[in-house]
Amino acid sequence: MKRVIYPGSFDPVTFGHLDIIERSLNIADELIVGVLNNSAKHPLFSVDERVAMIEEATRQFSHIKVEAFDGLLVDFAVKTGANAVVRGLRAITDFEYELQMSQTNAVLNPNIETVFLTSKLQYAYLSSSIVKEVALVKGDISKFVPENVRKRVFEKFNLKERADEQD
Ligand code: PNS
Repeated sequence: MKRVIYPGSFDPVTFGHLDIIERSLNIADELIVGVLNNSAKHPLFSVDERVAMIEEATRQFSHIKVEAFDGLLVDFAVKTGANAVVRGLRAITDFEYELQMSQTNAVLNPNIETVFLTSKLQYAYLSSSIVKEVALVKGDISKFVPENVRKRVFEKFNLKERADEQD
C-alpha cells in the first residue's frame, strides 16, 4: 500500500495543485493532502478553511484525505504511515527550494522519499499568491481556481458584489 503525502500551504488551492492531486492518485494507493497550519506565514485563510476548500474541490476522487498538520513534515508522514512526499515543480525557480527541502527531509528521515511531478504547462505560471493578487483588484480568477474557491476568495476580500455577479 503506497500512502503518499502532498503537503503545502494551499492558501488557496489552485487548479495547478488540483492537477498534481489528480496525477498523484495515479502513483499512490492513498493520497493525504497535508495542509500546513503555520500562523507565522500569516495565511489569508485559516487552516480549517483551506482544508474545507480542498475537500470541496476533490469530492470526485476516492482514496484521498485532507488533513491539517503542524511541526515537521517527516513526522506527519510517520504519523500517517506515509513513505513518500509528492511536490509539484513548475519552473526552474522552484527547483532550488524544493531540492533543499527534499534533502533536509531526507536527512531528518531517510525513509521518506520525495517524488516530483512537473506541473502541466498550462499551470506553470500559477500560484496561490497570483490568485490573491488578481482577486484583490477584482480580477477574474475563474481560470485559476474552482468555483467554490473563487467564491471564498471574493468573500474573504469582502468583494461580495463580484462574487454574486458571476453566479
Ligand atoms: O505550499 P508551500 O508553502 O510551498 O509548502 C511548503 C511546505 C508546507 C511543504 C513546507 O513548508 C513544510 O513541509 N513545512 C513543514 C515544516 C518542515 O518539515 N520543515 C522542514 C523541511 S524544509
